[in-house]
Amino acid sequence: MDRHAVIWMRTANGPMKMGDMVVTEHEARFAYAEEFLASGNPDGLALLASPALYGRETFVFRLRPAFPVPPRLMQFIPGHGRNNLQRRLYDKVLATRASPPAPGFDTDWEMMLLAGRNGIGHIDVFRDDRAAEAGYGAAIKRHPRAADRSAFWKAIREDIAEDLEAIDPDQIAHLLGPTPSAGGMIPKLLVAIPDVPSGRQSWNGDFAPAGTRKVGERRYIDALLKIEPREYEGVVGLESLCLDIHRESGFDVPRYWRVSIDGMQLLAVERFDRTASGIPVPMESFYSVFATGDAAFNGNEDTDIEEVGLRLEQLSSVTSLDHKAARLMVYRRFCLALCTGNGDMHLENLSFLGGPRSVRVAPVYDPAPMRAWPQHNVRSAIPIVFEEGTFRDNVIRVGRAFGLSNNAARDILDEMLDVTRNYVTRVMALQDVPDARKLNLARIVEAERDALGKIAPCDLPGTEMRG
Ligand SMILES: Nc1ncnc2c1ncn2[C@@H]1O[C@H](COP(=O)(O)OP(=O)(O)OP(=O)(O)O)[C@@H](O)[C@H]1O
Ligand SMILES: [Mg+2]
Repeated sequence: MDRHAVIWMRTANGPMKMGDMVVTEHEARFAYAEEFLASGNPDGLALLASPALYGRETFVFRLRPAFPVPPRLMQFIPGHGRNNLQRRLYDKVLATRASPPAPGFDTDWEMMLLAGRNGIGHIDVFRDDRAAEAGYGAAIKRHPRAADRSAFWKAIREDIAEDLEAIDPDQIAHLLGPTPSAGGMIPKLLVAIPDVPSGRQSWNGDFAPAGTRKVGERRYIDALLKIEPREYEGVVGLESLCLDIHRESGFDVPRYWRVSIDGMQLLAVERFDRTASGIPVPMESFYSVFATGDAAFNGNEDTDIEEVGLRLEQLSSVTSLDHKAARLMVYRRFCLALCTGNGDMHLENLSFLGGPRSVRVAPVYDPAPMRAWPQHNVRSAIPIVFEEGTFRDNVIRVGRAFGLSNNAARDILDEMLDVTRNYVTRVMALQDVPDARKLNLARIVEAERDALGKIAPCDLPGTEMRG
């Protein structure tokens, strides 16, 4: 059976149709609309499926099990994790239909059409143009108002507490509209929150539907809201610390807010894929870009960190990417991830921001040190191919694939070791993080720092410089 969908985007001049898509059993075919090509807008379906690369030619993507739709659209299919609020809500919405879709791809396709707008980046997916026009029309008419906070959080808390029946999907869907929650283990929502100074307890948990710019006199901004689930108790505290450390290390890091509501830990991060006036900015993960460009790519394991460096270089031949800056940034992130016990810097936690003519590596997001949890204790989510020598030697060697001399790579690694010299102490000082997680992370990070070759005796907890 062929399935049809249309792609639209919001621009400063209003919604605009980008093109038509057909998905057959074997392939997805996408063609740009004449009006879109005529508009000269460079920001197409995906970085490697841009109007500059395809123009009037059809973009054809061979489907494979990991990609039942083109990679750029995968984010609209809610993940299957138990914590995926969106899938659970949409399951309930679909169940109310006269003829609910069959489990499997039918359901995923319908979920994509429910979830397919106002997500991360600039792509909106609809069943057809009429649905697009109706969808945008409804969004304009929706009266911005702050959500009924207490009822909402009560429902969410009960949901987190695994009481599925307590959640009223209609109420929440109404409050939030389509709220893509791409992948991930942490429940999250796309919302707008008051533009208050960032920090702890400065935001009281008020929010409105994503895209809201003002409630009364107060300015609102778009944010990604993460809700700490029980099985990852402490993740909000640890992620916030790592956001701070990345900012201190000179990375571009979005503002964030933390609040505790009824015992739930919330982390709101300002979205960087929206302009100040709320217009979407293209954003696409490394994962999506690599999978679009390489038919053999099926996951993080299909590459290694050095290949990532080389792929960035290749990308600069078909986009405006400054590969020198991009490679330097990613190598620095790689070193800092190693020094902080991140282990989770996979290809969906790295993205490109901007279309093919303005693309750069996106600011830092999701830098949580997941090695604190034994089930996530891997050195690097992107494989590192080891050669002879120490761990330190290997990490420095990897720098070459990022265009760096041995000396330059070594300086970066040492810089990251230096900025994290008090990291373990800061982890241990965190409140709201269970001791078991802190001790586990501390132990792992200390061993890792040791292997990275730069641990002075005075940095060890419980030891002092003598003499
Ligand atoms: N500040 C931001 N601005 C725009 N998009 C963001 C921002 N933070 C995250 N995103 C997007 O939302 C997605 C999900 O966020 P994030 O990676 O923080 O959570 P997660 O994937 O649930 O965490 P985990 O990787 O542990 O499962 C990201 O992959 C990214 O596409
Ligand atoms: Mg993530």
